[in-house]
Amino acid sequence: MRRPIIAGNWKMNKTVSEAVDFVRQLKALVANVREIDIVIAPTFTALQAVSREIEGSNIELAAQDVFWEASGAFTGEISPIMLKDVGCRYVIIGHSERRQYFGETNESVHKKIKASFTLGLHPIICVGEALEEWETGKTFDVIKIQIIQCLEGFSREEMERITLAYEPIWAIGTGKTATPQQAEEVHAFIREQLEGITHRQVSQGVRIQYGGSVNSDNISDLMAQPNIDGALVGGASLKADSFSRIVKYSKM
Ligand code: PGA
Repeated sequence: MRRPIIAGNWKMNKTVSEAVDFVRQLKALVANVREIDIVIAPTFTALQAVSREIEGSNIELAAQDVFWEASGAFTGEISPIMLKDVGCRYVIIGHSERRQYFGETNESVHKKIKASFTLGLHPIICVGEALEEWETGKTFDVIKIQIIQCLEGFSREEMERITLAYEPIWAIGTGKTATPQQAEEVHAFIREQLEGITHRQVSQGVRIQYGGSVNSDNISDLMAQPNIDGALVGGASLKADSFSRIVKYSKM
């Protein structure tokens, strides 16, 4: 059985004090949740304060990106060592906004995943197609290339550490979601691709999150699908109340 994982990606939102306020509320709201991994991904500037605030709780910390070098002359970048140092367990890599606005490629995603493994971080790797690719039936081709180029060459132990997030770009922040059936079809395809590059047992254990306009109304139907193991939530993760309702989807 794959343990569900619900992660909030705050993107470029919240000051340190807003982040701490959020976490204080969330801790109380989800204190009794035991069966789900709860993850939040604040901005870099809020990581340390949030890390202190969640100590001893059932909430875990993710960063939104990472660079592949350990240290050195790379102005503006943050290394895996630094993320580990502030208490991150997870790191989101290859989000479509990084790909779209900041030149992220499958090749750079691969390097970032590799660097994260050296420090024992758990990468959450995003894949997904653009609207035009969806409309012209290229979804599977695009995802297949992303998976192969981002993930080829990793060992069994490394593959056991990954989480994938399928985020159709046309569903991110738009209010449009893939139907649970559409998402399931892609998730099943992703698992099949994983099987092609790693052991069957490992591919069966990899958690695949859905992302793109997830909210407390659509989460249950998405999570009911056999290959949807969690969600990567943007907009609806910014309020403790709405995020906690998503986390507690099975109790609603
Ligand atoms: P959204 O963002 O939930 O606001 O659509 C999801 C994401 O980009 O991870």
